[in-house]
Amino acid sequence: MPQQVRGVVSLKKGDPVSVETIVIPDPGPGEAVVAVQACGVCHTDLHYREGGINDEFPFLLGHEAAGIVEAVGEGVTDVAPGDFVILNWRAVCGNCRACRRGEPWYCFTTHNAAQKMTLTSGQELSAALGIGAFVEKTLVHAGQCTKVNPAAKPEVAGLLGCGVMAGIGAAINTGKVGRGDSIAVIGCGGVGNAAIAGARLAGASTIIAVDIDDTKLAWAKDFGATHTVNSRHGDPVEQVRELTGGFGTDVVVEAVGRPETYRQAFFMRDLAGTVVLVGVPTPQMTVELPLLEIFGRGGALKSSWYGDCLPSRDFPMLIDLHLQGRLPLEKFVTEKIGLDDVEKAFHRMEGGEVLRSVVIL
Ligand code: APR
Ligand code: ZN
Ligand code: ZN
Repeated sequence: MPQQVRGVVSLKKGDPVSVETIVIPDPGPGEAVVAVQACGVCHTDLHYREGGINDEFPFLLGHEAAGIVEAVGEGVTDVAPGDFVILNWRAVCGNCRACRRGEPWYCFTTHNAAQKMTLTSGQELSAALGIGAFVEKTLVHAGQCTKVNPAAKPEVAGLLGCGVMAGIGAAINTGKVGRGDSIAVIGCGGVGNAAIAGARLAGASTIIAVDIDDTKLAWAKDFGATHTVNSRHGDPVEQVRELTGGFGTDVVVEAVGRPETYRQAFFMRDLAGTVVLVGVPTPQMTVELPLLEIFGRGGALKSSWYGDCLPSRDFPMLIDLHLQGRLPLEKFVTEKIGLDDVEKAFHRMEGGEVLRSVVIL
């Protein structure tokens, strides 16, 4: 029988979000219903509300979540009722061009639930990133559920579902930072600080945090930055070069998503180094670079989708490392809030006051 639960919906572009009654169908073939325990507030939720992603209102927001599987549909074997899972928005298909060549983290046709959740009027909801998790229960594709050690707290585990995984993965999976390497991270919000935590985990010996806000730089130190650079106090490229014997770093993670910070990243890396863009630009942004420098500096200019993560590989591993005390995921949780507080959390996020607000259900 379909269930009725409470969830946070963006009904109309730009309007404050509201808590509505949501109808959750029983899971069909390949689907699962998950009782959400915690869901972080991400910039992407705000972008949906502002019409910045697409116009398919109304949206059921929230996508950075952990919870307990309540029911599964026909043919689901990987997860079962009672499992503690982190939701992911890239359930790989196993069949597309990327999957077939053994690079499933690039999967081009990821899975979502086939059925729609609706309002009580019957109007279909667009689930944010194919999840929709500011809601007591949600319907997803079973491949979007990754089982992890239930000893982890839901508010901490859920963060791996989006921004924190994007940052850690940008450093480790995309940037391939390793023992003894140097890395600079531009933009030390939730994503950038996760890249710093990831770089420390991977054994980077020089970790330079770059931001325009001293509070963020203090947080970055706490996550493992060995040096900090405030771009307001002089050219950040020069400052990073000074800290690296004049060379620049092996890897630069750009976690802002702006042309000026991308240019800084480009010139901040050492010869044959790697630039990783994980910050998300807007459609209007362009960047101009000397082609000779692109050639002459060698190395790699990469983008990182969701930290190039493979949820089935990365989520359980990162939760285990967290439980061993090697990855302080709890430090990303600035505040715990209720379903009714999401609009307020958006304002705090815009003000740059939080790393993550997490809705507890
Ligand atoms: N130079 C350096 N740092 C900057 C600059 C700049 N010119 N402009 C902004 N920043 C810093 C901010 O001070 C802040 O600390 O970048 C950080 C951005 O952090 P958040 O706003 O918290 O964003 P976050 O959640 O970390 O996401 C970063 O990744 O997933 C994408 O859409 C997301 O583009 C965004 C990026
Ligand atoms: Zn695929
Ligand atoms: Zn997100």
